[in-house]
Amino acid sequence: MKRVRSNWQGAVLVCGKCQKKLKGGFGPKRKNSLTKELRAHCGLAKGRKGRLGIVEVKCLDICPKKAVVALNTNHSGVWQIIEPGSDMEHVTAALGIDCQAEPGS
Ligand code: FES
Repeated sequence: MKRVRSNWQGAVLVCGKCQKKLKGGFGPKRKNSLTKELRAHCGLAKGRKGRLGIVEVKCLDICPKKAVVALNTNHSGVWQIIEPGSDMEHVTAALGIDCQAEPGS
């Protein structure tokens, strides 16, 4: 078995179907997806090089109207239903993400 190193300290799972239904909804012009906005807000590199994974997944069977389901795998007991236009500071706080954290800290 081979191994691949990753800088991830955790991952946020975001429902891709919710995002697709919203067609954007986040960012200053509300044109970006939640995943894109989270990556931009926290300055995350894409893929395994980033310190946190933002992973789009299939339907999580909550299916809220006009919102996106997301969860932090480090706090998987609480899932968030995030409405479009939400402030990213509030979203990251609700998800338990510390965007200022240095890798390895
Ligand atoms: S469509 Fe997102 S949870 Fe079902």
